[in-house]
Amino acid sequence: MKKLIIINGPNLNLLGKREPAIYGNLSFTEFLEEIKGKYPGIKLDYFQSNIEGEIIDKLQEVGFSYDGIVLNAAAYTHTSVGIGDAVKAIETPVIEVHISNTYAREDFRHQSFISPNAKGVILGFGLQSYELALQGFI
Ligand code: DQA
Repeated sequence: MKKLIIINGPNLNLLGKREPAIYGNLSFTEFLEEIKGKYPGIKLDYFQSNIEGEIIDKLQEVGFSYDGIVLNAAAYTHTSVGIGDAVKAIETPVIEVHISNTYAREDFRHQSFISPNAKGVILGFGLQSYELALQGFI
């Protein structure tokens, strides 16, 4: 059984309440239950933190034993050399995801410290971006 994890960064704990026009009305907990029901053949873990160092700690913790990491580092995508370095340092492949099409938004969202070391990037498909990334590991 493949061991995968979704790691979400800051403010993604507010999904369902936060700017619904951009991020939708579904909470991540509801979405995760749907996904787990749809893919019973994978072991899927979930971690969310608003704290940069905790995301780095989690990447290091899972990054030598899991089969895949789906990472939405949220705002840290555009600022964090530390998370970018962690993605480079670990062995487990990382697929970067974003709910919104960051290239259709403000210029500061066009920069990613994750992309250069990611296996791939999926963005702009709403919460379906996560599912497409998981399919990339199955
Ligand atoms: C996001 C896009 C980021 O620019 C933003 O800071 C987020 C969410 C997305 O999933 O669309 O918090 O990563």
